[in-house]
Amino acid sequence: MKFVIGLTCVLVFQAGLVEAAECVESPGNVLRICVGAAGGQPFYEVSRRGRPVLERSALGLTFVGEAQANVTLGKVKRSAHDATWEQPWGEQRVIRDHHNEMRVAMRGNTRSSKSFDIVVRAFDEGFGLRYDYHGIPSNQEVAISDERTQFRPAGKYQAWWFEAYQKERDEYLYRRSPLAELTKAETPLTLESPGLFLAIHEAALVDFASMTLRLTAPDTLQADLMPWSDGVKVRRTGPFQTPWRTVLISETPGGLADSRMELNLNEPNQLGDVSAYARPGKYVGIWWEMHLNRSTWGSGPQHGATTANTKRYIDFAAKHGFSGVLVEGWNTGWDGDWIANGASFSFTQTYPDFDLAEVTAYARSKGVSLIGHNETAGAIANYESQMAAGFEQYAKYGVHTVKTGYVKPNGTIQRLTPDGASHNEWFAGQYLVQHHQRVADTAAKNTKIAIDVHEPVKDTGLRRTYPNIMSREGARGQEFNAWGDPTNPPEHVVILPFTRLLAGPMDFTPGIFDITAGKKDIHKRVQSTLANQLALYVVIYSPLHMAADLPENYEKHPEAFQFIKDVPTDWEHSRTLDARIGDYIVVARQERNGEDWYLGALTDEQPRSLSVALDFLQPGRSYQAQIYRDETDADYRTNPLAYVIEKRTVRATDRLPLAMGPGGGVAIRFKALDQDAPR
Ligand code: NOJ
Ligand code: CA
Repeated sequence: MKFVIGLTCVLVFQAGLVEAAECVESPGNVLRICVGAAGGQPFYEVSRRGRPVLERSALGLTFVGEAQANVTLGKVKRSAHDATWEQPWGEQRVIRDHHNEMRVAMRGNTRSSKSFDIVVRAFDEGFGLRYDYHGIPSNQEVAISDERTQFRPAGKYQAWWFEAYQKERDEYLYRRSPLAELTKAETPLTLESPGLFLAIHEAALVDFASMTLRLTAPDTLQADLMPWSDGVKVRRTGPFQTPWRTVLISETPGGLADSRMELNLNEPNQLGDVSAYARPGKYVGIWWEMHLNRSTWGSGPQHGATTANTKRYIDFAAKHGFSGVLVEGWNTGWDGDWIANGASFSFTQTYPDFDLAEVTAYARSKGVSLIGHNETAGAIANYESQMAAGFEQYAKYGVHTVKTGYVKPNGTIQRLTPDGASHNEWFAGQYLVQHHQRVADTAAKNTKIAIDVHEPVKDTGLRRTYPNIMSREGARGQEFNAWGDPTNPPEHVVILPFTRLLAGPMDFTPGIFDITAGKKDIHKRVQSTLANQLALYVVIYSPLHMAADLPENYEKHPEAFQFIKDVPTDWEHSRTLDARIGDYIVVARQERNGEDWYLGALTDEQPRSLSVALDFLQPGRSYQAQIYRDETDADYRTNPLAYVIEKRTVRATDRLPLAMGPGGGVAIRFKALDQDAPR
């Protein structure tokens, strides 16, 4: 028997068991999320326009030393929210946060679960769900042994995933398989069915373990928190809230990519005005030459980070209008096996052939800033003991962006306890989540430094709250195209926008022009055309984008290089115009503080002819489309450098054909014209 009381309260009497559930609908009545308890166990279920999307799925946390709680539903609080807010920098300046919230009080029969809330925020494009354990006394220590949250998609789905808990953290190629073949996966986990796409992730990961997903039945994904080395998942003292467990639900892949729900589920900016230092921009640097083995991070005759070489890059940056020059290998500790000996890194001591005062003064005289580099090799205590001094030294010399790194096999990140014992941690357990927070806080506090984290904990939208956390790596980036075996296949960059990039910006480091770098084996070099490398600047969002190749390679293609010089890294609007996950994507973005639009299109190993409506352009206005496209015979395998640059006048009412070769792409700048130009 089923009684529907009012709009949202459902009571069900089944086999003598009382079930109670409370529901919330999204503002446009697209999604309906119900939270309830049956037989003392909390659950939720989700439908979209009346059709089930997530079947009844378990909820709850289990605490160390406590039995699984029996809970009953208490009072329900509802609220509606519709407001806009502005990002200091980002893929979209103004963001609307439009959701309905439901807070369901739960009463449990264990020490920690006596009184807690399950909070749901329903957006039209997805929802967030979190636990708020507000009833725990302020000095009570709790340890979480498990999270029982499940995600049980209704119907058959294909999953885009790679296996979690592997050695190289999140740096793996994605595979597509039936959901039932998944083992354990990192999030965002994207699921595809004919007509519906889901992406499961989390938002606002603060002082908690990061969530992975484990398949426990053919249709059941179970939250799997990355543990501490002793097996405990999370330790907290006093009341706490978990991160939001999020699911985006869309009829198109572009709907996933264009959602700003992750950001909306994070707290507002806590750093105030960051415009003096967290500045979007493009950079070049002493980097690709090391990955190609043409110079070294460590000292010796091939040392890359010399004063002279840095000045060469500064000259190049100044000449072409780049704001930053990254310098890796400037500090002592790189000699020998640096991954094994991370505790030897100094974050203030330079190699003798690198003069920090001299290069920063030189950079300043040319209107360029250095981008600092702190590779920790996962030796956390060593870094934490020096990071404040390192940031102070950098700030003293005018360096306000630092790239950090955590190269170390997953599961062997070093945690030292006061008794001197060393523990091996996962790269995204609570200890590392806390560490990255300490780094970002320290960087912001006195020295006003922005961070770009490599080998990071995955992004969960924290850039809203801490806008000095500007970019991250957290996937297979361009570096794999130097030494990966195999390198990234063409489809990698048409999978990333619907998986890793749903989490947030990525420092992918695009822009390699010397595609073959003298190598014959296609699986050992960049697998794309040159036009594809240009389109990456638009498709992949990052406030900091590198022009990764060597200066001499850009000088060989000055016309194509013009696109990298022109393309902004800060946007007013961003829209995915067309896409099929793993096949192709077309993205358009309008520059912030300007009127020009940019378009990036990428294809996988298949050639592709598309046609896009230019209705994103301002109606009635003429634009000069500066088109950088594959030549008709371009092919990433045989003819990657064949590109054409053409210009034509277009308007919002036009359609534009986009032709891409295998592994190809198109990059376009739509330059707003002052006068209506003849066509
Ligand atoms: C891995 C980073 O992703 C890469 O960019 C950097 O050059 C190396 N670590 C060395 O720190
Ligand atoms: Ca890396």
